[in-house]
Amino acid sequence: MGVGITVEGLNAFYGKTQALFDVNLRVLANHATALIGPSGCGKSTFIRCLNRMHETIPDARVEGTVRIGDLSVYNGTSATQLRRRVGMVFQKPKLNGFRKRKQLDEVVERSLHSAALWEEVKDHLHKKSGASLSGGQQQRLCIARALAVQPEVLLMDEPCSALDPISTGKIEELIFQLKEQYTIVIVTHNMQQAARVAEFTGFFLLGKMIEFDKTEKIFTKPSDKRTEDYVTGRFG
Ligand SMILES: Nc1ncnc2c1ncn2[C@@H]1O[C@H](COP(=O)(O)OP(=O)(O)O)[C@@H](O)[C@H]1O
Ligand SMILES: [Mg+2]
Repeated sequence: MGVGITVEGLNAFYGKTQALFDVNLRVLANHATALIGPSGCGKSTFIRCLNRMHETIPDARVEGTVRIGDLSVYNGTSATQLRRRVGMVFQKPKLNGFRKRKQLDEVVERSLHSAALWEEVKDHLHKKSGASLSGGQQQRLCIARALAVQPEVLLMDEPCSALDPISTGKIEELIFQLKEQYTIVIVTHNMQQAARVAEFTGFFLLGKMIEFDKTEKIFTKPSDKRTEDYVTGRFG
């Protein structure tokens, strides 16, 4: 099952440059939360702070508190422990090592089923490399892999930005099903996508989370003028 995420007073830095400023957020378990905002506003940085990827960048550091369920991410938890509970999918499918996998174990098969990919790829898996799959299939394979460790949280950083509308639709359908079992945080620059898949949306601007609310509220009656300007297409 999914677990909630609590973020308190999160600051993130690249060397001396601050990229996130005092971000506070509560993500509800078994729901999808979208993060939107113009390019360079810190969405990827934020999502990387949730699974301790940020600190793998030289000179990068994080301040503040992140809790994944009852696990305190920056206090007494190893990165390995954390990765088992938090899966991540990126913009460009990364399929390193796919060719080496001769035998798919039961867990991977099960997660391929949950990624709605099993029927499409079962005959190909042993003979073909990941590269012979379509972009959308590759992305769903990445989702299947992220699910193979049976995490509680699935982070997705613009998972559809390189995909055509049909493949995008399949991923969105998948997100709907996956919410029953996982907590999902998805970064997207596609506002329609946020509106379709997420119950909650956070709007980022210049490293700050300007507003966080039910998705419908963000898109129809935002409280902050900057959110309104962004969702109505006045900038970004
Ligand atoms: N590896 C990095 N080193 C230094 N600065 C970075 C790095 N990655 C991102 N930044 C900077 O952090 C800010 C936020 O970037 P990012 O989180 O990628 O934004 P978004 O995902 O919203 O486009 C930007 O100013 C960007 O230039
Ligand atoms: Mg990004």
